[in-house]
Amino acid sequence: MTDASPFPEDFLWGASTAAYQIEGAADEGGRGPSIWDTFAAAPGRTRDGDTGAVACDHYHRWREDFDLAERLGLRAYRMSVSWARLQPDGRGELNPEAVAFYRELLGDLRSRGITPLVTLYHWDLPQVLDDEGGWPERRTAHRFADYAARTAAALGDLAEDWIPINEAWCIAFLGHYEGVHAPGRRDLTQALRTVHHLNLAHGLAAAAIRDRRPSARIGTAVILTDIEPASDRPEDQAAAMLADGAGNRMFLDPLFKGAYPEDMRWHYRGSGAFDAIEPGDMDTIAAPLDFVGVNHYHRFRIAADESDPHLGTRALEPEGPVTDFGWEIHPASLRRVLERLSADYTDLPVYVTESGACFDDAVGPGGEVDDADRIEYLDGYFRAAGEAIEKGVNLRGYFVWSLLDNFEWAEGYSKRFGLVHVDYDSQRRTPKRSADWYRRVIASGGANLDWN
Ligand code: FCB
Repeated sequence: MTDASPFPEDFLWGASTAAYQIEGAADEGGRGPSIWDTFAAAPGRTRDGDTGAVACDHYHRWREDFDLAERLGLRAYRMSVSWARLQPDGRGELNPEAVAFYRELLGDLRSRGITPLVTLYHWDLPQVLDDEGGWPERRTAHRFADYAARTAAALGDLAEDWIPINEAWCIAFLGHYEGVHAPGRRDLTQALRTVHHLNLAHGLAAAAIRDRRPSARIGTAVILTDIEPASDRPEDQAAAMLADGAGNRMFLDPLFKGAYPEDMRWHYRGSGAFDAIEPGDMDTIAAPLDFVGVNHYHRFRIAADESDPHLGTRALEPEGPVTDFGWEIHPASLRRVLERLSADYTDLPVYVTESGACFDDAVGPGGEVDDADRIEYLDGYFRAAGEAIEKGVNLRGYFVWSLLDNFEWAEGYSKRFGLVHVDYDSQRRTPKRSADWYRRVIASGGANLDWN
């Protein structure tokens, strides 16, 4: 920490990506199909029918991408490895070509002085495991632990920091209740069983990684949303409580308190969801971690709405400026979720493992991408992170989503989150103005932000 910046000197300034969103090469290197290949190929599931079959072609262009990361001065890089590439059949020996690929990537990052954080599951379940029932089935959690153990054994000498699962909320509710993400199911009980099996998979994988690599540091990446009641009316207050329960506490409480929240158990009574819990599960889930990753994108002001069959809630329209996704720009919410995590749950080291914004960026006539809106966004969110540190939050790093424009799930290539612009026809990379701005933030340790 310097006089001019609250960020500690060893703060991990980073950026994040995920395998399916950037790698492409879906049929190469022995990779098997994942649920996202299947989902994206089905008619009407993604914007314009986009798929991740080619994406940013990072599989072939990763050196160029890491050159850009190095030029940015990134201290750390959060990436995911593809389960469907490493274990195409969802079981058994790892695919040697995939192991070689990821070993090369990780070794290269380290030689550049960039610390890798590795996520094991950023949504690309081998299709064969979904055919056998997928996350609503308990055996998938055990399959995941086996994959985690083998991957830690194969790659663990090249990465210290491991995140088993990215954003269990999205997988469970977007994938199994709303059906807007793979595998596209729409069933509340299946979604809730998925919640438990993902929490369990996290715990089983954490134990498996520790077993293979006792020195590994293990965390998680939870998506935390800042929930506010829309008014003082008791029904809005109760609605906000439920939204917070489903979105945040169903994941934080098991990890840090070893139990599902009582109010949510009551709300979901009759769904059969909690029948999935077996003796010992909660201890497995709550085993101590080394760090917590927070992905943050939203504030929601929640009102009661009886027409919603899940929670009886509705989010009000954003009040302030929004990104190209229509997501509200509200930096104070990042500070609030970080403070809440530290007040209510844990004093472990925290990383912001994802935060960022999409805007309709285009390459200008002079070849530049002038994304002043992203600079303003990041400036606000970095300062909110700095304020959280000043308030005592043990924040150790910040990973901007994302290094590159990439395949934004159901939105296909229409949403650009990158510090680096990707022209998907030519695969040309163009660092945006925000990349240069971020480079200067990193070089100054955050001291060049406006702290007044
Ligand atoms: C998060 C996902 C990430 C990306 C951002 C915009 O929920 O983890 O892959 O799509 O949203």
